[in-house]
Amino acid sequence: MRQEIETILAEARARVAGVREPGEVRDLRTHYLGRKGQLTLALRSMGSVPAEERPLLGRLANEAKAELERLLDQRLEEALKRETAAHLERERIDVTLPGYPVGPGAPHVLVQAMRELEDIFTGMGFAIAEGPEVETDEYNFVALNIHKWHPARDMQATFYTAPDQVLRTHTSPVQIRAMLEQAPRLPLRVIAPGRVYRRDPADASHLPAFTQLEGLAVDVDVTMGDLRGVLLEFVRQFFGPDTKIRLRPSYFPFTEPSAEVDVSCTVCGGSGCRVCAGSGWLEAGGSGMVHPQVLANGGYDPAAVTGFAFGMGVERMTMLKYGIDDIRLFLQNDLRFLGQFRSM
Ligand code: PHE
Repeated sequence: MRQEIETILAEARARVAGVREPGEVRDLRTHYLGRKGQLTLALRSMGSVPAEERPLLGRLANEAKAELERLLDQRLEEALKRETAAHLERERIDVTLPGYPVGPGAPHVLVQAMRELEDIFTGMGFAIAEGPEVETDEYNFVALNIHKWHPARDMQATFYTAPDQVLRTHTSPVQIRAMLEQAPRLPLRVIAPGRVYRRDPADASHLPAFTQLEGLAVDVDVTMGDLRGVLLEFVRQFFGPDTKIRLRPSYFPFTEPSAEVDVSCTVCGGSGCRVCAGSGWLEAGGSGMVHPQVLANGGYDPAAVTGFAFGMGVERMTMLKYGIDDIRLFLQNDLRFLGQFRSM
């Protein structure tokens, strides 16, 4: 028995000295001291030795156990230290290496387009007006002749935030706000660029949140000729001097008469191509003469003044200008896309 304990201990010493990995140390601990470990089993067979030998043997066995535990602890600590050191060495960071170059940023292509549009219209005497994106049902619809029952409410799938509150579906409510702020003073000439929201799924030509630019002019004797002149000047400056426009009869509840604005195709110049489906024209926005009721809702006397209004999608204008074929690119922040518009 005594011989057995000494043999086990000698062998264990040698094996512990020979291992390096924490896992190996743990295996050895199980091998000798685990529930079915060699030393454990030896201690357990103590019952079968003669009573007079037990005290001595018991002490021996306990000493062997204590020594082995100490050796294993020591070895494990060393192994763990070595492991940590190796880990740190592997992940060493050379803080003196030069970093990756970070170039200067640039305004997003849509921001650039907004600024250009604002410059063009302020150059023609328009001031910039603003309104909230969370708008009242009253301003977004009712004051624009779109009453509760009006079918035009279905044309613009609306996000309601409260029974009488919406995320504005267009920038036209700013027409009402601008008129109420300034009436009865003349002339009133404003543009209102800003975010609008519609419950449309995103695809290549739709986003649930996009940008519009509204225009409004109110004065004595404003005519549809003025509307046409302003829009023509705008497209010439924005798309190029040879650009043409076409006003196509249409319907909006807040303008009468109303017209769809087409621009000559920015790809083929009007001769017909795939982009304009052979027609030579591209849809650019809505427009018309401000409805007398809308003038009155804004605080103006429809017997004394007239006005024109127009609205366009800023993403759409930007897509036509640069030949961008998917509106979602504006939101994806892909630098390969955005980098093409850095220095404009
Ligand atoms: N508000 C209309 C729309 O969102 C566009 C429009 C603006 C039409 C002004 C006429 C006059 O579709």
